[in-house]
Amino acid sequence: MDPKLLNAAVAAVSVLSLCSCRQTPVSIVPQPVVAEENCSSFRLSPDSLLVYSGDEALLDLAGVWAETLEKHYAPGTVGLPDGFTRIVSDIVLPAVRVTDDPRKADVVLSMDPALAEEEYTLEISRRGINVTGGTARGVWWGIQTLDQVLVQSASASSGKAKIRVRGLHVQDKPHFAYRGAHFDPCRHFFTVDELKTFIDMLALHKLNTLHWHLTDDQGWRLEIEKYPLLTEVGAVRKETKIGLYSDKDAGYDGTPYGEGCYYSRDDVREVLEYASDRQITVIPEIEMPGHAVAALSSYPWLGCTGGPYETRTTWGISEDVFCIGKETTFRFLKDVLDEVCDLFPSEYIHIGGDECPSVRWENCPACQRRMKEEGLQDERQLQGYLLHRIEQYLNTKGKKIIGWDEILEGGISRTATVMSWRGPQGGIDAARQGNDVIMTPNTYFYLDYYQTADPETNGEPLGIGGYVPLSKCYSFDPYDRLDEDERKHIKGIQANTWTEYIATFNHMQHMDLPRFAALSEVAWSEDRSDYAGFLARVEASMKPMYEYSGYIYAPYAFEGIE
Ligand code: ACM
Ligand code: ZN
Repeated sequence: MDPKLLNAAVAAVSVLSLCSCRQTPVSIVPQPVVAEENCSSFRLSPDSLLVYSGDEALLDLAGVWAETLEKHYAPGTVGLPDGFTRIVSDIVLPAVRVTDDPRKADVVLSMDPALAEEEYTLEISRRGINVTGGTARGVWWGIQTLDQVLVQSASASSGKAKIRVRGLHVQDKPHFAYRGAHFDPCRHFFTVDELKTFIDMLALHKLNTLHWHLTDDQGWRLEIEKYPLLTEVGAVRKETKIGLYSDKDAGYDGTPYGEGCYYSRDDVREVLEYASDRQITVIPEIEMPGHAVAALSSYPWLGCTGGPYETRTTWGISEDVFCIGKETTFRFLKDVLDEVCDLFPSEYIHIGGDECPSVRWENCPACQRRMKEEGLQDERQLQGYLLHRIEQYLNTKGKKIIGWDEILEGGISRTATVMSWRGPQGGIDAARQGNDVIMTPNTYFYLDYYQTADPETNGEPLGIGGYVPLSKCYSFDPYDRLDEDERKHIKGIQANTWTEYIATFNHMQHMDLPRFAALSEVAWSEDRSDYAGFLARVEASMKPMYEYSGYIYAPYAFEGIE
């Protein structure tokens, strides 16, 4: 049908809908700054067309959107309700075709420089659908909101020939510029395809940063050309602890883990392209000076004692760490970081800094000599010495560092960003001394923690401990105890899902969903006074998105169990 005629026909039908507008309100997560429904509606039909407004970035975005819909909603996808599959495959997928002729447009993507980078508006009226962003990133977040509206509208239109998309005006922008989730493939490995799905999960929640934890005691997961043993030796552990770390009697499984479990340089490029297409920045983490046993097992000269070392087979913290006395350690770290900087375009490199015992340094002549030569008072300052040198090196390459909050103990430069994980206190201290902060407190956003007070009765899988139900995540106040000046240093928030006890991607999804919805709402919205309303929106909007996308999610919050 000629689109003008179609629009005229749609207009005629829509006028009628003005009079009988008793629709269920649309639910959007995170809650936008403005979301006003009106009584008009747009009828999306198989003849509808998507347009991009002349910008290459938006053309690419339209393609990525179509690809995502296809991936999640293609006919035959397991778990989709029949009516929904039909309506999506008959209507939404054919409709998301790209044209560059604005006159044919039903769904228009465009950019408006008057909007902030990640800000967007979504207008749905009988004339069509407009998503406008400050940049392609803003448009992408607008598309995520549109997807939520489409899924709810499609479900309500089951059995009809067109989807009636309710009239809506949305204006939104994120409160925090940094909205992250952390991914740990070191304790248990996850494939590139799983990581891509994880990136889809981030995009769905309008999170813009993937913190990729690539090295740890139990496995080194990034190919470094200059040091091939890191992935030949350091990726593999000879067996894995059974049960809880604290359960000393449970023994080991006797099965080698991790051969070939690393990301090649091509894998990294593939992940970076996939993330960039979805407007997500990737920050790599190379841990130092602790959590380094996999590196030490590959190259024993990196440690104070010279080894031998074994890639760690249990969890917790190792006393074996990088030797800071020997210059060869610095040569190694710089070589590794050269390759990391070569691969990753991000402004930030995460250099770890957490949980590093000093006992080896106390007994190492080279480390003690270094302390004397540099006038360092104690081993915490020795750690600070390493981190400062590495920061300066990264600065020469145009990069800035992020470190876990322990980096405060050895003294940090003005330009280091602190990731506050031992509760919010490290972040508060850092903000008060003028450093930028990302809040990722274990007390609110460690998603490897249990989701209910009684995990055994509620059938939660074995976990590391802790207790962070959905309502707790939602209640986090990133500005607690900070005055106006200090608040500007809080750059954002992040959730961490450590994988000691998470061996499969399904399990990881169970831990992250729906808690990512709370992370998203805390990151985007300032007003979080209505937990019941939030939960109802998650149930109406995100839960079907999870189901239709084939994601595993935890049911507890929806069943009223905390
Ligand atoms: C951490 O959880 N050790 C950062
Ligand atoms: Zn040493």
